[in-house]
Amino acid sequence: MEFREHVPLASYTTFKIGGPARWFAEASTETEIFEAIDFARKRSLPLFTLGGGSNLLVSDAGFSGLVLRIALKGIEQDEDLFRVAAGEDWDSFVTHAVSQSYAGIECLAGIPGTLGGTPVQNVGAYGQEVAETIAAVRVFNLVTLQFHDLSPEDCDFSYRRSIFNSKERGRYIVTRVDYSLKKEGPARVAYADLKKHFAGAPEPSLTEVSAAVRNIRYQKGMLIVAGDPDCRSAGSFFKNPVISADHYSQIVAKQSGEVPNYPAGEDLVKLPAAWLVEQAGFHKGFALGPAGISNRHTLALINRDDAKAADILALCDQIIAAVGREFSIRLEPEPVFLGLETKL
Ligand code: EPU
Repeated sequence: MEFREHVPLASYTTFKIGGPARWFAEASTETEIFEAIDFARKRSLPLFTLGGGSNLLVSDAGFSGLVLRIALKGIEQDEDLFRVAAGEDWDSFVTHAVSQSYAGIECLAGIPGTLGGTPVQNVGAYGQEVAETIAAVRVFNLVTLQFHDLSPEDCDFSYRRSIFNSKERGRYIVTRVDYSLKKEGPARVAYADLKKHFAGAPEPSLTEVSAAVRNIRYQKGMLIVAGDPDCRSAGSFFKNPVISADHYSQIVAKQSGEVPNYPAGEDLVKLPAAWLVEQAGFHKGFALGPAGISNRHTLALINRDDAKAADILALCDQIIAAVGREFSIRLEPEPVFLGLETKL
């Protein structure tokens, strides 16, 4: 296993931003994960586990520890159960499942990143989230130094959340995810954009739905297309905030038009962060130096032209302050920040 020094991280992220890793290694086997941990421990290095870099903002100074890129590969199928190594590309796996008529992840087509990242933030889009189909997550436990399986209950999934990015952050490295899919299951057409797309065409196939999702994502600049500056981003930069029904009523009372919302449980309302950002004065195509907002979706902050992490953070701070002033809502960034000190 090779341990490289001073490796620039920008090209490992969809933002194309970030300084060097002091140490960098790739693990293609579970044994190499052990080796890497041993290397880091002997030198007292902090460890950062890198997957597809699609939900990540790396500081301009880089990271002073070991960045371990998870490159474990392989898909094993046992009837409806797919055991997929963490380094596999997520979108290729969706295509693989859909082409064999397995339902359950067709709405998650076109999402950049690797399998290992999917349970971490409970990836979700267009009416599906991975928590619905994950059967188990194999992990390396950095406290006990052992590999073991976690059940979906152990993972404690909720909106963009699991134990991996909350109470157990930094404790596990995901090495494999088991997906339980449904052979010949119906495609899910639940999200408004998809219903609109298939109006008058009942029961589209899994292939049609995943193709429609890719198309919708492309139109929003949420599909990685080489040379397209709107996708030099980390996807949605903020989570959609959940507020009390009272707070929502106060916002409605002050607005002349309609306030878009999704139900989020008793006495709770989820608001689209994109709408809040626009109402607070930031339009599609907004630029702040080399950082900006996508021309196709207000929730994606983009690297317009050689932006630094500091440029993205300056825009992030402006947006948080404006939405706070306008709506008394504190937006929370969605990406992982590596090596960045923030006031958030
Ligand atoms: N909207 C705007 N301006 C825009 C875009 C959207 O005002 O430029 C408003 C509209 O009211 C629209 C609403 O926001 O109806 C919702 O927009 P959209 O359907 O695009 O969804 P979203 O809430 O912005 C979430 C996820 C996306 C996921 C889509 C589709 C979060 C933070 N984001 O976005 O996930 O693809 O739904 O399910 O939950 C990601 O996490 O990186 C991501 C792209």
